[in-house]
Amino acid sequence: MSGATGPTDAATGPAGAGIRRGESLPYELLDAGERMTREELRAHQLTCLRATLRHAYAHVELYRKKFDEAGVGPDDCRALSDLARFPFTTKADFRDTYPFGMFAVPMEQVRRVHASSGTTGRPTVVGYTENDLSVWADIVARSIRAAGGRPGHKVHISYGYGLFTGGLGAHYGAERAGCTVVPASGGMTARQVQIIQDFRPEIIMVTPSYMLTLLDEFERQGVDPRTSSLKVGIFGAEPWTEEMRREIEERMDIHAVDIYGLSEVIGPGVAQECVDTKDGLHVWEDHFWPEIVDPLGDGPMADGEGGELVLTSLTKEALPVIRYRTRDLTRLLPGTARPAFRRIEKITGRSDDMLILRGVNLFPTQIEEIVLRVPGVAPHFQLELTRRGRMDHMTVRVEARPETGRERRAEAAREIAQGVKDGVGVSVDAVVVDPDTLERSVGKIRRVRDLRQD
Ligand code: DLL
Repeated sequence: MSGATGPTDAATGPAGAGIRRGESLPYELLDAGERMTREELRAHQLTCLRATLRHAYAHVELYRKKFDEAGVGPDDCRALSDLARFPFTTKADFRDTYPFGMFAVPMEQVRRVHASSGTTGRPTVVGYTENDLSVWADIVARSIRAAGGRPGHKVHISYGYGLFTGGLGAHYGAERAGCTVVPASGGMTARQVQIIQDFRPEIIMVTPSYMLTLLDEFERQGVDPRTSSLKVGIFGAEPWTEEMRREIEERMDIHAVDIYGLSEVIGPGVAQECVDTKDGLHVWEDHFWPEIVDPLGDGPMADGEGGELVLTSLTKEALPVIRYRTRDLTRLLPGTARPAFRRIEKITGRSDDMLILRGVNLFPTQIEEIVLRVPGVAPHFQLELTRRGRMDHMTVRVEARPETGRERRAEAAREIAQGVKDGVGVSVDAVVVDPDTLERSVGKIRRVRDLRQD
């Protein structure tokens, strides 16, 4: 295979299914939004932003109160930069108005609701009008095309169906893109592999961690995953690293691209990485206005500086979101494959996933980068937090690859601990455990087990 560039030519397969890195989308396949010049886009954004602010202020009590308290009104937004004067929206605002208090249209116009699982407290409930559902399908379809999907491709969807936005969001987008959908949802892993073998999809949409579970299952069934029909994986819903991209691309002989989104803003399809460049995710700026702010304060950060992503919806009806604090950490970069749209860098993590270990800040993705560079271990790992006396302690548990012997396991454990010490600056224990002993993902993975007792 051709290194980090993705699959071999042999994998580009049957007629119409050739998906190659470096081949940009033909102009006639770009939709109207993608064809806008930057000037046209900015004009469109300002018009939509002003309409969204007016709509939110007129129909959502929470926004009316917040704007009034901040002493701003929709008419104060005369330029895109004026948005910085408006207050932020947070997850707490959704919780406080549970279940439907953030909706800006009468319930009869809401065609569907979704909800985020909410590990703590009430779930966040979001709603869509008919037009919102259509916009959502359009941007997911656009994302699938950017990933290399074309009409006639079969798309196997293993994001969970249900209140989670992943399954149904991907589903209607793939249909809109003219693809054939295989709505597998999550779970029943052995059967999913069988279905992939039998139905021969070109594209899979799934969390990267569940892709690893599927990869192991291919091998367990004695099937070389590189021989599968799949050519592209569209992975998101959780943070993943370049090292994980390499692991999946090499083991499956596919292109692995990133899709980003969140339920409060719409679901999957807010931003998408293009297969021809694989250089971060283009934010679909005709529908969402991105900003980066200081994660610890409120101050804006310039393009290129790292911080927390804040998103404002520009075209949503049922649930306009104004300056939503995503907690996701990234930076804004200029557009490449879609020059008018800025990109976000691959997300390193959420500010609330950050672990502070004896004063050192640490993200699970940093450990992923280190673990995946060490030979002899599998990409399955878990971080266990315990307390020793007054000190917090972390143990990195990593599975051995089946062929790895005892000596290599011990060495690998030392290399991981040393890698964390050198790369992150904190001492941890690393333990290499038997293959198949750590919990497997069927959706979003839980990396951290907190065993500290307060
Ligand atoms: O995870 C929507 C989605 C479904 C996105 C399928 C992509 C694919 P929520 O359950 O509301 O929605 O979780 C949103 O997941 O704020 C990020 O922290 C994280 N996340 C989503 N996509 C990515 C990604 C869906 N590509 C939260 N990289 C977001 C890193 C991601 N984190």
